[in-house]
Amino acid sequence: MPGILEKIEDAEFLDRAAEAGTKVGSKLVPHGPVKDLLTGKWLGHPVHPMLTDAAIAFWTSAVTLDLFGRRYERSAQTLTGLGILSAVPTAAAGLADWVDSIGAERRVGLVHAVGNVAALTAFSGSYTARRRGDSRKGKVLTLIGTTFLASSGYLGGHLAYRIGAGVDRMAFDRLPDEWTPVLEETDLRPGTPVIGRAGDVDVLLYRGTGGVCAISNKCSHRGGPLNEGTINGERNTVVCPWHLSEFNLCTGEVVHGPASAPQPQFEARVNGGKIEVRTVRGN
Ligand code: FES
Repeated sequence: MPGILEKIEDAEFLDRAAEAGTKVGSKLVPHGPVKDLLTGKWLGHPVHPMLTDAAIAFWTSAVTLDLFGRRYERSAQTLTGLGILSAVPTAAAGLADWVDSIGAERRVGLVHAVGNVAALTAFSGSYTARRRGDSRKGKVLTLIGTTFLASSGYLGGHLAYRIGAGVDRMAFDRLPDEWTPVLEETDLRPGTPVIGRAGDVDVLLYRGTGGVCAISNKCSHRGGPLNEGTINGERNTVVCPWHLSEFNLCTGEVVHGPASAPQPQFEARVNGGKIEVRTVRGN
């Protein structure tokens, strides 16, 4: 399997279709409250992996009941229908994540999506056949759907655990526990953000009306450079230049997605003419 996965990751011929798909997807799920809902701003991490559990649970339960003969055919039909219903928000959440992907992540995501559409089509056919009383055809289509589901689920695992799609880009960075000097105080003028370096991370420093604020400069969504984004002084926020996530400059809180994880926040103080930062506990 790893060989196949590498081939998909490197399959540049998929880029045209992926480009077209992300363009359509961006129109279907534009930047705004619906995308915030689907990408998990309210949850603190992506919604799609959690929603997949429902569809998988319904459909695998239907397959299991099919093993026990005619007695459970009605229940298997109901579970198949519930799986189809739960697949709709699951697909919408996956699409909202996928439109911001590039490169290998986007290619694997495309194949993952095609597999899921094939699974959904097979389960929909199964439900229709079962309703018409053709349980044999319904069971065959359920098995076909399960095969597609398992394959696309494997790709979903690869996306999450090998490619790191949806992983907080700050998750593995070491943040400074001790006060660390990052900048001469005179280099930070009100309203103009400046980058300082603390340990392994770039820190975005900003002097607003409430004093000096500091958050990580690398966007938690896909790693965009916040210092190249747009500062909104009135709202005390910065908008990432890559996919327009908006963060509070002092707390790191996500104001608008698609980011779901907040930016790590630092305490800041002036000591001997230098600005020092350290991690806020709980980051
Ligand atoms: S990298 Fe996507 S919003 Fe910042």
